[in-house]
Amino acid sequence: PVAITTATLNADKPGPVMHPDVFGQFAEHLGHGIYGGIWVGRGSRIPNDAGYRSDVLAALKAINVPMVRWPGGCFADEYHWRDGIGQAGKRPTKVNTNWGGVNEDNAFGTHEYFGLMDRLGGSTYVSANVGSGTPAETSQWVEYMTAPKGTTMLAKERERNGHAAPWKVRYLGIGNELWGCGGNMRAEYAADLTNQYAQFAKSANGPMLKIASGPSDSNYDWTDAMMRIAGKNIDGLALHYYTRPRDKDWNDKGAALGFPEREWASTMAHTLLMDEFITKHSAIMDKYDAAKRVMLAVDEWGTWYDPTPGSNPGFLEQQNSIRDAVVAGLNLNIFAHHADRVRMAAIAQMVNVLQAMLLTDGARMVKTPTYWVFDLYKPWQGATTLPVTLTTPYYHKDEFALPAVSASAVRDTSGQVHVALVNLDPNRAMPVTLSLAGLQATQASGRIVTGTTMDAHNSFAAPDTVTPQPFNAAQVANGTLSTTVPAKSVLVLDLR
Ligand code: AHR
Repeated sequence: PVAITTATLNADKPGPVMHPDVFGQFAEHLGHGIYGGIWVGRGSRIPNDAGYRSDVLAALKAINVPMVRWPGGCFADEYHWRDGIGQAGKRPTKVNTNWGGVNEDNAFGTHEYFGLMDRLGGSTYVSANVGSGTPAETSQWVEYMTAPKGTTMLAKERERNGHAAPWKVRYLGIGNELWGCGGNMRAEYAADLTNQYAQFAKSANGPMLKIASGPSDSNYDWTDAMMRIAGKNIDGLALHYYTRPRDKDWNDKGAALGFPEREWASTMAHTLLMDEFITKHSAIMDKYDAAKRVMLAVDEWGTWYDPTPGSNPGFLEQQNSIRDAVVAGLNLNIFAHHADRVRMAAIAQMVNVLQAMLLTDGARMVKTPTYWVFDLYKPWQGATTLPVTLTTPYYHKDEFALPAVSASAVRDTSGQVHVALVNLDPNRAMPVTLSLAGLQATQASGRIVTGTTMDAHNSFAAPDTVTPQPFNAAQVANGTLSTTVPAKSVLVLDLR
């Protein structure tokens, strides 16, 4: 018999609010992340709203996408914003040197990005070009976006291009991966540049939070230098951490489908490192910023496998399975545990790239298992986190020994409590008892995302293989919730 996972939910000890933007998305000019995936243009035979795919817009709205980071990624440090304004068709065509060497015709630019955000209704996050740009270029872009109607040359130019009112820029990224594709810089040099760019990028339309290019994985020296040199001039530090099977490397990341159980286990082991990285980066940030004014923005996270066979390897296309759903649940629980410091995040990437919400092929669209996890976690957006302590058996596979069950809980803005239970064991259902401290509840029911195989997924031929199912197999008696969480599943229970 499987040992019982015993847990306590302390509803009487509320933690910090989980910022909605933790459920943010990343959309880069990469493969079909934007072109074909979001933007098809007004003349397309694919149903669209002024050029934006109608099916994609509806699907994204349904999960309350709170924020979209754009235009990159590595693309951002080669992007010149003037290429993407003015009459469509007259914009310069360039080569996307980072992603597949394809032509970039700049049909999707600043106006199209803000048009997308107007439709989705979320916070805006624009990444500035530090690697190959200048502080002047960035400050002019910010002026173009935010200067009040009719005030400056750039505000008038924006109006001539069709948008008189200024936009709000909620986040400004100061370069991307400046240690790598953003310019191969030393941390100290990048921090000096960050100070310089931050000084001259001034929003004329409300607060604009400045996000420095931060570390990847366990690069703690980078965090230390950036906080020491630029900490006072930034509002956030980006952390990038991608999940791949732990025993694989960047040249052989393993397949998205049809993988052995060992790769399931090593993927889980790798993704759980997110907790260690956030904890340690956050401790370094505490040295310079004990009040946690500067957020840790995990603005690139998710799985990265070998590309779909037959696809352009520069397009980073991959299928998305129950393994990805479990990875998503684990990471969202980790973010909930660090809600004090992690106040914004972006999964890479929203459509057609890496761990996507949606996959498209011509006029067809499919919602991935990861999409459905984001749907399950909607009540976490802006909710108060509630601490959950937990003792759980280990799932063992080869050298990997992993705590089987992960949990997080919140009280949403209407007062209702929700609990997420993720079982990463692909073989065994996990019995769980959860003591409810400081909470009067008599019933629990919800929805579950699971599958019959480790790589169960949705395809264009079978788009509904993995969808959330109602879950009613939980009992609440004498202040304790009891249930059994099926193997390889993400379960969200609503308590009443
Ligand atoms: O998300 C794909 C790429 O991964 C991004 O462009 C870059 O920032 C990271 O290395």
